[in-house]
Amino acid sequence: MATTLITGGTVVSATGRGAADILIDGERIVALLEPGSTVLGANLAATADTVIDATGKYVVPGGIDAHTHMSMPFGGTTAADDFETGTRAAAWGGTTTIIDFAVQKFGERLQDSLQTWHEMAAGQCAIDYGFHQIVGDVDKASLQALRDLPGEGITSFKLFMAYPGVFYSDDAQILRAMQVGADTGLMTMMHAENGPAIDVLVSQLLEQGKTDPYYHGIARAWQLEEEATHRAIMLADLTGAPLYVVHVSAKQAVAQLASARDRGRNVFGETCPQYLYLSLEDQLGAPGFEGAKWVCSTPLRSKHEHHQDHMWQALRTNDVQMVATDHCPFCMKGQKDMGVGDFSKIPNGIGSVEHRMDLMYQGVVDGKITLERWVEITSTTPARMFGLYGRKGVLAPGADADVVVYDPAGHTSIGLGKTHHMNMDHSAWEGYEIDGRVDTVLSRGKVVVGGGEYRGRKGDGRFVRRDPCQYLI
Ligand code: URP
Ligand code: ZN
Ligand code: ZN
Repeated sequence: MATTLITGGTVVSATGRGAADILIDGERIVALLEPGSTVLGANLAATADTVIDATGKYVVPGGIDAHTHMSMPFGGTTAADDFETGTRAAAWGGTTTIIDFAVQKFGERLQDSLQTWHEMAAGQCAIDYGFHQIVGDVDKASLQALRDLPGEGITSFKLFMAYPGVFYSDDAQILRAMQVGADTGLMTMMHAENGPAIDVLVSQLLEQGKTDPYYHGIARAWQLEEEATHRAIMLADLTGAPLYVVHVSAKQAVAQLASARDRGRNVFGETCPQYLYLSLEDQLGAPGFEGAKWVCSTPLRSKHEHHQDHMWQALRTNDVQMVATDHCPFCMKGQKDMGVGDFSKIPNGIGSVEHRMDLMYQGVVDGKITLERWVEITSTTPARMFGLYGRKGVLAPGADADVVVYDPAGHTSIGLGKTHHMNMDHSAWEGYEIDGRVDTVLSRGKVVVGGGEYRGRKGDGRFVRRDPCQYLI
């Protein structure tokens, strides 16, 4: 098998950093060595098949984006990135594993939806991928089918308290599904917004002629995120199911999570870069129809209420455990523009899979999180949360050689025509400047990005079977 030596860099983990060389044999890491080590008298740099010079750079475990929606059918259209384009963009940005959502539509057999997702992804991906299961129709059959998921390497499912008539589950359905979660160890992932109440506000706003994208954020008030988060926590509490709340944006929802965790509950929260950097006023409230680029749910929150600062703080204090993208891209032309004159018809979603590692690294530069915390929230915790740790999320002997060499002296300009390989006609991050750069990306030992080029191929990525959550308290 071919050997690779990554030499001269500073290896960063969730718990520390230090100078070390990394020796890779084939797809796996075999050793972390003192810089310049020899083995049986042999100079490794002279004997390795490939040597990657990481002098002056950080060497970190490949990013794990645990929330993506490739080719998701949603809002009357389909997310613009498929597994080929989306995973290639992820690789460019230093993400070496995604966990995507298989979508069970109403009336569909859960097993069939999972099969569809396998067929869509197989042979298409640049990097490794796993699945969560969306349960869009909680009934006897799907509850029974959930019990087979761990045997399929899928250890989490997602329910929606929002989107009535589409993916929505009522409290009775949530309770039953969580009972299965408690029984099987499957993680319940929750989209926590009070959908029926949102729908009332949406129709009232539209009746008043308030049709601009900005009103998407007004209709999806933080009270409805806090209320749903609280309700989900209480139902999880009752059943004993572990709970993971996706795309948390409101500081009040964070407080609910923190209070449950203070009571020793297995309750976890994920946020996304958009809730750390962007706001209701500056993006959703952009002139004309421009704000449609940032229509996503949960929505961007008011900068005057300082949700964004609170979210950075929650990342520091571990009240929020990790950052995923909720990558669900839609083009302005032909997709987002379906909602001109009616914000409720704008497909919900933002594309960020390529930029998560950079955007979160900027948090290190800005003094909002430490370098180690960057690794933890983008890779190590996602691996532990979703049963990949040991193989992914860590640079250690035996782990997959998913490695990112990150250059702190580099620079990244984000935007269409700059760093942008996602299948979108705009960027939600246009104009963002990052004081760092993804230099080299290895996926199971193969350099997929290096020297400013994409060197991978579709089909490099494999389906990864996941174990149960490794983060329970
Ligand atoms: O706006 C969003 N988040 N779109 C994707 C679907 C979801 O709710 O996660
Ligand atoms: Zn959601
Ligand atoms: Zn999502």
